[in-house]
Amino acid sequence: MSIPFNFLNEQQQNALSSLSAGLNREQIIWLSGYFQGLLNSSGNIPATLPVQPQKNKQLKILYGTHTGRSKTIAGQLAGKLAARGVEVQAVALDEYKTRQLASETNLVFIVSTHGEGEPPAMAEDFYEFITGKRSPQLPKLNYSVVALGDKSYKLFCKTGIDIDQALAKAGAKSILPVLTLDVDFEDQAAQWISQFTDIFAETPDASDQPNPASIPPSQSDLYSRKNPFRATVIDKVKITGRDSDKEVYHVELSLDGSGINYEPGDSVGILANNPPALVDAILKQTNLSGTEQVTLKEGNYSLQEALSDHLEITVLNREVIQKYLEKTGNKKLQEIIEDETALDRYLYGHDVLDLLEEFPFSFSARELADLLRSFPARLYSISSSQSSVGDEVHITVATVRYSHKGRERGGACSTFLADRIEIDSTVPVFIEKNPAFKLPENEKTPVILIGAGTGVAPYRAFLQHREANNQKGKTWLFFGERRFHSDFLYQAEWQKLQKDGYLEKIDVAFSRDQEEKIYVQNRLIERQKEVFAWLNNGANIYLCGDIKQMARDVQKTLLQIFETEGGMSEEKALEYLKTLKKEKRFQTDVY
Ligand SMILES: Cc1cc2nc3c(=O)[nH]c(=O)nc-3n(C[C@H](O)[C@H](O)[C@H](O)COP(=O)(O)OP(=O)(O)OC[C@H]3O[C@@H](n4cnc5c(N)ncnc54)[C@H](O)[C@@H]3O)c2cc1C
Ligand SMILES: Cc1cc2nc3c(=O)[nH]c(=O)nc-3n(C[C@H](O)[C@H](O)[C@H](O)COP(=O)(O)O)c2cc1C
Repeated sequence: MSIPFNFLNEQQQNALSSLSAGLNREQIIWLSGYFQGLLNSSGNIPATLPVQPQKNKQLKILYGTHTGRSKTIAGQLAGKLAARGVEVQAVALDEYKTRQLASETNLVFIVSTHGEGEPPAMAEDFYEFITGKRSPQLPKLNYSVVALGDKSYKLFCKTGIDIDQALAKAGAKSILPVLTLDVDFEDQAAQWISQFTDIFAETPDASDQPNPASIPPSQSDLYSRKNPFRATVIDKVKITGRDSDKEVYHVELSLDGSGINYEPGDSVGILANNPPALVDAILKQTNLSGTEQVTLKEGNYSLQEALSDHLEITVLNREVIQKYLEKTGNKKLQEIIEDETALDRYLYGHDVLDLLEEFPFSFSARELADLLRSFPARLYSISSSQSSVGDEVHITVATVRYSHKGRERGGACSTFLADRIEIDSTVPVFIEKNPAFKLPENEKTPVILIGAGTGVAPYRAFLQHREANNQKGKTWLFFGERRFHSDFLYQAEWQKLQKDGYLEKIDVAFSRDQEEKIYVQNRLIERQKEVFAWLNNGANIYLCGDIKQMARDVQKTLLQIFETEGGMSEEKALEYLKTLKKEKRFQTDVY
């Protein structure tokens, strides 16, 4: 069907213009769900919106999110259900009163997993409640859980799965089995929304809750993993010294023409291609030419293109090993997958070529492609502020290179940025919002910024923002790396910011400049009196960087400071940290 330019009559065009002019992106998402829902309904499009439907089915969507994806899916589901006449309400889990739970009849949970198998901060209390001893029996409740996660993490979708199990244990009935979503979730989520809407809208109702239909909008961006913007590289500079054993690049990308907006604290998602040497070695090992055609979710490609641009080959996960085992029936692989510690050890530092070399099997191109996961975008904390750089986005990237079993290896995206792009190349990007890592609204609120290595990236964005807006609040940076001479990322910028009054204090820890190791947490202890005084004056604390060691050690140190400086017991210190998190005064962006 071709759609003529004047497809809508003048009156409709005017109505559409005046409606869309007043809409934000979040409302557009809701409306797209709403119109899809209308299309899928009986086919009769009502002339008016069911603003106050009478005696309609009711459902609450409870979402728990860190970066906003769960909220987006909640918005889409809400729009679609509303179009089918359901009275729907979407509520953030940190705003939901758990005492209401026992009287609920229809709930959908959409929740992600963060940290190392932990709930996002906004879902922590609910998670503790529902999985704890005080959780009530819920025989009246019908529910479904959509769990967002990432298969590269050991505890895939743990929060959603645990919530699903806790609800089942409490006697609630699931409408559809728990849906676990990996990072390329869009198609599966859309299918599930349609299926759920059909089932829920068509089944007779037992609900009698008088909830008004009020749906908070969800957020979205025009560009996404599925539809990235091709940003041009404007600059790329190695910012670690020649004698450093780290290789960190500052990369500047142009967003010109995209209309993309971001805020300090957000990340940029990058869709890279894989190291060509690894693609070639995989083809050689499998005796495939690369010209074979394969069909992926994204479309039809030659195997060479698929391995280079669309599939993950540098990283393994449990599912890939499981599928490989099913194909090969290899005993040693079976032993690895059955032993959690052995599996963890195998997953770290091995890639698809290792599997093919160690457990040889004759794969067809189709079988090889089926084995592998779609390439998940890598995220990088944005190290610039649009108030200062306009249509640019800057990132700070540590190149992953290591040697294992006599082979030099490189991370897919970081070596793409280090080795395979140059000025004027284009890079597929999108913005990953991070509402949970934001400067305080009140510029007078003091901030303590703690970061090691590339963990300092978002603080460059924070301070650029403050400088561009002439906000001279109290700001204290703790930065850690290996060596002063080669690894002091953005040293000159911090010094200038300090001179100009945008950075009040800076404490640095260079772990390898002296005999004993000194880290940011040691500096925090040295300054504990003042750190606690800043907290007492309402300071926010930010923590960014390595999740495995640094984040854990810094949190432990903060608890220690609360105990010694605040005279708190261990329990009270933990409670205080929790309160700081809840009040968004302790925010983390760790990876
Ligand atoms: C919210 C967020 C923000 C982030 N911000 C930044 C940032 O600002 N800057 C930044 O540099 N990164 C950042 N990251 C990390 C980034 O997204 C990538 O994970 C990182 O660049 C590695 O990706 P890669 O594709 O290069 O490596 P991959 O292809 O993903 O390879 C990584 C794999 O290599 C193996 N490996 C790595 N090192 C070793 C080793 N020494 N020995 C053995 N095996 C090893 C492991 O199996 C590991 O899983 C962030 C991540 C998140 C989630
Ligand atoms: C630092 C970090 C830790 C994560 N940890 C896990 C994890 O342990 N298990 C998992 O399945 N997914 C994990 N994820 C993936 C997220 O759940 C996934 O990106 C999800 O789509 C985010 O949804 P949200 O935007 O609603 O928070 C993690 C993501 C990040 C950035």
